[in-house]
Amino acid sequence: MAKIIGITGGGNHHDAGISYIDNGKIKYAVSEERPRRQKNYKIIHEKPTDSIRVFERDNNMKLNDADYIVLASPNSLSVGNFFQDYGVTDRSKVSVVNHHTCHVYGAFYTSGFQEKTITLSMDGGGMTQDELSGNCYTKTFLSDKGNILEEVHTGIVGRESTIAGLYAAFTSYLGFKSLKDEGKLTGMAAHGKVWEDLYTSLHNIHQYSEETQYIEVPNYNRNSFYSTGSYLNQLISLCRLRDEFKNNVKKRYEGDEWSHHLYRCDLAATVQKICEVGALDKVNHLHKLYPEYKKICLTGGLFANVKINQKINELDWVDEVYVYPPMTDCGLNLGAALHKAVELGDVKKSKKFDNVFLGTSYNQKQVDDIYFNRNGKDDDFKNIVRHSLDLDFVGKELDDGKIVGWVNGRYEFGPRALGARSILSKTTERGVHEELNSRLGRNEVMPFAPIVLDEYADIVFETNGKSHYTAEFMTICYQTRDEWKDTIPAVVHVDGSARPQIVKSDNPFYGVLKKYHEISKIPVLLNTSFNNHGEPIIESPGQALRHLKNGIVDLLVIDNHHYIRSE
Ligand SMILES: [Fe+2]
Repeated sequence: MAKIIGITGGGNHHDAGISYIDNGKIKYAVSEERPRRQKNYKIIHEKPTDSIRVFERDNNMKLNDADYIVLASPNSLSVGNFFQDYGVTDRSKVSVVNHHTCHVYGAFYTSGFQEKTITLSMDGGGMTQDELSGNCYTKTFLSDKGNILEEVHTGIVGRESTIAGLYAAFTSYLGFKSLKDEGKLTGMAAHGKVWEDLYTSLHNIHQYSEETQYIEVPNYNRNSFYSTGSYLNQLISLCRLRDEFKNNVKKRYEGDEWSHHLYRCDLAATVQKICEVGALDKVNHLHKLYPEYKKICLTGGLFANVKINQKINELDWVDEVYVYPPMTDCGLNLGAALHKAVELGDVKKSKKFDNVFLGTSYNQKQVDDIYFNRNGKDDDFKNIVRHSLDLDFVGKELDDGKIVGWVNGRYEFGPRALGARSILSKTTERGVHEELNSRLGRNEVMPFAPIVLDEYADIVFETNGKSHYTAEFMTICYQTRDEWKDTIPAVVHVDGSARPQIVKSDNPFYGVLKKYHEISKIPVLLNTSFNNHGEPIIESPGQALRHLKNGIVDLLVIDNHHYIRSE
């Protein structure tokens, strides 16, 4: 039984980070953005130095104490003296796993699926290892009885040709940050109408072919199209709609005060449809090829798109969908470590995550040191009063419209706040959306997401009892039942969908949600990540206390205490 470390970082990578498996058990996983306090999309070409620092501290071991170090796809960590700096002199313990194989192993071996399963990985590009002729953007594996059986498809096209790449390009074109704001496009799409002529033109390129099993036209050179100059002009030229396109824009939007917004929403709706149709055609063809395989694991950046995941989950033939919670490249390091664990026989079958609280935690003494500023490094929290946690009080404050910061134990691995570092509020008033955007300096288009008591998930949302496990990680949308839409408007999108986190009794949210339900008769709260605009999700109690002090939240829970401002 081995100690295995998975690492991402360096080279062309974004989403640097580290994970650790000991004796076949997932012990630790951290994305670089948390300890570095810099959003992932800004950490490109960088080594995971802060992740390694906190890993060594939190686990009381050195990188070199691991038996194996596995790199998620080739990168600059594998050359030079990076490992030497950490005392890793035996280079034979360092190996590399292909990018999409990491995506797939991470997803499948945390799905718990024992039945016949298809695992599909799709992203904007991926990296090459053995696929030297281009960027690999998709892989498909089959599995049964809890084990990977075989790789059945590899897709290689230019990075700029993929539908995830198209989505990222439109995200930039609409003024957002790609690798960060794709969810905003998903949110806007529901407000827009598909622009049929643009859709047709794009569909000619991004169309699934059963013959090649590509969504893209292989070898079509669109690099210049996406990378330089005015994206729109190149889009027009590509679509061969120059005059018609301009006239259409004029006719459609001129004189309307919402024109710019509508134009953006329509573009979002169009690119969303391209991606949905492409992904659905792909999985439906996989079903035709492998009709006995009715469970599906989805991984890779494309499946950060919760609406695509919803559409796949709604297919009749699909028994269950599981979306890898760290589906973007932040989940690669764990996939790399799992690959080695499977190879060694330390992991024998797919097993559900116990939880994704795999980051740093702070014990009571450390919290006290921060709260009382014992080392003189923290803020002055004298005007913040601490009480033993009283969930009755917290539940009533939530019902009264207060916004609550929530810190519990180890922080989450992956992009979502799922019980350890969150902001909670009630969902019964639409205005909560503006209030939170204003307090957090955000500009969320997608509604904030709900958490729902496990026993009420089917009552509030049209889940058909399907894919509850993946909904524990907030990676899929469901339609909200009509009778609940007006009760919880703050978390329901304009198309009636919501992205719930199903909260089971072992989740840290369960107690507060149960208490709020007793008080309000509503089994749903709003949950958003605990961070101000531009900052990664908080990791330490000190960051949380500062947000209380600065009025971002009205009340703060840290483990067994709650805190309020005294004025
Ligand atoms: Fe990827």
